[in-house]
Amino acid sequence: MAERLSVQESIALVESSDHALLKESDLWIHFDAQGVSIQGVGEYATSKVLVDFVGGALSRRSQHKHLHGEMVAKAVGIKKHPDTKVFDATTGLARDSFILATLGCRVDMMEQSNIIGCLIVDGLRRGREEADLAATMTRMHFKQGDSLSYMTLERNNQALRPDVVYLDPMFPDRQKTALAKKEMRLFQLFCLEAETELDLLLEAAVYFAKRHVVVKRPLKAALPVDRKPSHSITGRSCRFDVYVANTEA
Ligand SMILES: C[S@@+](CC[C@H](N)C(=O)[O-])C[C@H]1O[C@@H](n2cnc3c(N)ncnc32)[C@H](O)[C@@H]1O
Repeated sequence: MAERLSVQESIALVESSDHALLKESDLWIHFDAQGVSIQGVGEYATSKVLVDFVGGALSRRSQHKHLHGEMVAKAVGIKKHPDTKVFDATTGLARDSFILATLGCRVDMMEQSNIIGCLIVDGLRRGREEADLAATMTRMHFKQGDSLSYMTLERNNQALRPDVVYLDPMFPDRQKTALAKKEMRLFQLFCLEAETELDLLLEAAVYFAKRHVVVKRPLKAALPVDRKPSHSITGRSCRFDVYVANTEA
């Protein structure tokens, strides 16, 4: 297999919406010993980005003894309901999904971008090869697609409806390191529509969830016009707004 494929050369993997704003030379997809990764070049230069549950920061974070104290865990309500079924409608690099699955949640994950979807599938494949992660991996299930259509279509499907829908549509603007900022810029190209879509996603999610919807937002982001959260969990750079599900449907 070739070591490096440009987006243009790997066209079978992607659809135009994935790289409408990227020039052919802006993005590399690597297939190598590390797995499948993407790397911005030129204006969008980054190091390789991959979904990595095995080594690196996410693995260290998941082994932390205070994992229950993670804001995402508190917002989902895991302490009271450890076996919560979560639908992560905006999976991205699956970091939040992995934290939730490590804590015992069953996590159904959906991602619209085909390129990011490839990274997720590859990350899960490598995770399944690790004996220590076997139990966590059985709780993570990925489907490629648009969560808005999915939640709207399946809103009365009791077998698919989760206890909690989790929405984290945008990579936040404020990142600590220059590299993280560049990664954020690269990824914003994939999810440019997401911010305008948030109101629609939230509306579909309150009917799809059985218990509640959690929305991760930059700390100072405005609330949606039509819905007020029941409460928010606030950190230094972001907050988690919790919306009660609409059970009258
Ligand atoms: C900020 S990232 C999520 C990061 C993730 N929480 C993590 O822990 O890595 C947002 C992701 O949501 C995806 N997304 C946005 N709207 C979507 C939709 N309607 N359906 C599926 N995925 C969507 C974007 O493509 C992007 O990859």
